[in-house]
Amino acid sequence: MRLQVVDHPLVAHKLTTLRDKRTDSPTFRRLADELVTLLAYEATRDVRTEQSDIETPVGPTTGVKLSHPRPLVVPILRAGLGMLDGMVRLLPTAEVGFLGMVRNEETLEASTYATRMPEDLSGRQVYVVDPMLATGGTLVAAIQELIKRGADDVTAVVLLAAPEGVEVMERELAGTPVTVVTAAVDERLNEHGYIVPGLGDAGDRMYGSA
Ligand code: URA
Repeated sequence: MRLQVVDHPLVAHKLTTLRDKRTDSPTFRRLADELVTLLAYEATRDVRTEQSDIETPVGPTTGVKLSHPRPLVVPILRAGLGMLDGMVRLLPTAEVGFLGMVRNEETLEASTYATRMPEDLSGRQVYVVDPMLATGGTLVAAIQELIKRGADDVTAVVLLAAPEGVEVMERELAGTPVTVVTAAVDERLNEHGYIVPGLGDAGDRMYGSA
C-alpha cells in the first residue's frame, strides 16, 4: 500500500475550516466537495489514458483521452456520498458503484448492508471514497471486496486519516495495488474510534443529523 498526503496550502486551508466545529452543514458540504476535487487531482495522476487524434481549428494534433474500461468511483455510504460529485467532476466518464457499510460503534467492526457495482472489475481502475480512515476496518473490507471482483488498481481518497488506520491498511493490504490519498494524517484515535483532533462525525456534519 502507498500513502500520499497532499501538501498544498489550499488543502490545508479548507481542512482547517472543515475541522472547525462552528462550520455549519452547508459550508461543510461545499468545502468537502472542493477538498475532494483537489485530492482527486492528485489521486488521478496515474489515471489511464490513450492516444487521441483530433483536429483543432488550426490543424491536426495528437492528445490523450481517458481510456477504456472506464474508471469506477465507489463512494462508501453514507458519508462517502458527499465526496462523489467532487470526484466525478474530474472523472466525468467514470462509472459509479455503491457500497453501503456501517461500523458497529461498540466493536468498531465493519459490515456491508448494500452493494451495487459491476461483478467483474478486471482491468478497472477504482477510486473508493470515504471521508475518514479511522480504524481502517471499513476501507479494508471495501477494498478487499473490490480486489475480489478483479480490480487491479485501487485508490482510496479520504479527507483525514488516523495513524492506527494507516497501519491496519498497511498490514491487511500488504502487497496489493492500493494507494491512499489524504489531506492529513492526524495524531490518533480516541477510545470511541474518533480521529483526534479530526473533525467529528463526518456524516453528521455533512447531513446535519445523527
Ligand atoms: N468516522 C467519523 O465520521 N469521524 C471519525 O473521527 C472517525 C470515524
